[in-house]
Amino acid sequence: MIYHKNTNIRYRLKIVIRYIMKPMEKKNGFSSGIGFILATAGGSVGLGNLCSFPSKTQENGGAAFVFVYIISVILLGLVLSIAEIFLGRRAKANNVTAYQKVRKGLGWVGLVAMMGAISIAFYYVVIGGFTVKYTLNSFATTPTELNAFAGNVGEVILYSAIFLILAIVIISAGVKKGIEKASIILMPTLIVILIGIVIYCLCLGPGVGDGLSFYLKPDFSKLGAKGILSAMSQAFFSLSIGCGALLTYGSYTGKEVNIGKSVIWIAFFDTFVALLAGFIIFPAIYHYQAVTGEILQSEGLFLLFQSMPLVFNTLGAGGQVLSFLFFGMVSIAAITSLISLVEVVAQYAIQRFRFSRKKACIFIALITLLVSIPIGISIGNDMNGRPALVFDGNSLSDVFDRIVTSVLIPVGALFVSLCFGWFIYKPENKKDLFDFKYLGRKFQEEGLNLGKANYVFAFMIKYIAPILILIIDIVGLLDNIFPNGTSGRTFSLSGLIIILIGIAIVAILIGIYFIFLKNKDNGTNEDEILEAS
Ligand code: PFF
Repeated sequence: MIYHKNTNIRYRLKIVIRYIMKPMEKKNGFSSGIGFILATAGGSVGLGNLCSFPSKTQENGGAAFVFVYIISVILLGLVLSIAEIFLGRRAKANNVTAYQKVRKGLGWVGLVAMMGAISIAFYYVVIGGFTVKYTLNSFATTPTELNAFAGNVGEVILYSAIFLILAIVIISAGVKKGIEKASIILMPTLIVILIGIVIYCLCLGPGVGDGLSFYLKPDFSKLGAKGILSAMSQAFFSLSIGCGALLTYGSYTGKEVNIGKSVIWIAFFDTFVALLAGFIIFPAIYHYQAVTGEILQSEGLFLLFQSMPLVFNTLGAGGQVLSFLFFGMVSIAAITSLISLVEVVAQYAIQRFRFSRKKACIFIALITLLVSIPIGISIGNDMNGRPALVFDGNSLSDVFDRIVTSVLIPVGALFVSLCFGWFIYKPENKKDLFDFKYLGRKFQEEGLNLGKANYVFAFMIKYIAPILILIIDIVGLLDNIFPNGTSGRTFSLSGLIIILIGIAIVAILIGIYFIFLKNKDNGTNEDEILEAS
């Protein structure tokens, strides 16, 4: 501890000296509102939009699923995104400090959010590696065979490492010169490619109409409670809610950024990309089925990495170009999301342990790569019927994903709404505690100006969001423990274990916070020394 104190003093001295020497040193954060919107949209638009959204839509009754998804984005997504970004802006600090600034005893929520972010990064890196491999392999004479590629551990790790290094290089360059610059180039590129591929796929001919009618005709009989739950948690995951990424990016903005308008743009971007992904996948898959008479797999990774290459393969040279553009676009979406995930943890490492940005990035990259190796092996084993590292039909990637989406994100989202609705201001008059109008006025005073929507926002975040999230959380937990199988609901031991692991992780993080971090200075954005330009 004493050692830390000394480095702390030395570090602060260094900041003061640099401050005197370089009065023109830049501020730590995004240089423009558009930079912030593109970077945050980049974090939100990812594998969730291009892989899980179409696959879940296919499973849960097409437009019926899309309908619940859009309602969830409007009802909960917008409100929680605004809250999380404002929490970051208000603290101008990492997740732990930001929640500490709401109430000292709540800093652990920041740890839970960070754990969610890094856990997603662990498997995101592996799937990101797949996208790089498929992009580069687009011009090969035979399409990449998913089982064979996933089963080749060496190659999977190699491509994961390439993908991770690309992200780390961008994050190391800093928020403005790395993350913002990359997003300003990559996000418009993604949109252009996306629209181009949609137009191409709509013109494929046979089968396109069937694909569109499947996508656009709601089948509520296939939705059920599970589908509704799946749509809601997909909306949270897709908008990056509850994992600290919005808070971290929000902390790099100032009053010049209008949070309400920005969030509408970000949510629009994210939903637009997810919806357009459907206009690529369904026409393409149904076209292939109409031409060959063969039914393609549509679940999870198989949809993207097994079925789509088969479609491209039937389209001749045009198909190769299309494959390159498609998987290139997925790689772009995935890398900007990985960047946002890693930045959450990097920000904390920089501010709490006074690491340089480079050191923090290398440190996190090594841990991520180390954990992603067993995950990569497990995905390959699962696909090739090998039992090692596969638990009751779940690869390690599924296990991490379920812990995050069933426990860590729900806890994070619940506390975002509770912090905002109930803990952030301590009114002197007890009656004001229940008055959402009081809250709306307070937000306005603090610079959260949503115009007339301020009261609506305050009401939603105080009363509606916590209740809805709590219901989603409880139903989600029960659904893991008693999943719906072919013979109705049955008890699942593996589901129970996954939930218990998730709860244990939260308990451990709470313990760590109260024992080691509660009374410490967990740092702010001011603690990062910026390189001179
Ligand atoms: N929103 C990303 C996707 O849809 O793939 C995943 C994600 C990124 C979730 C960042 C959470 C997060 F903090």
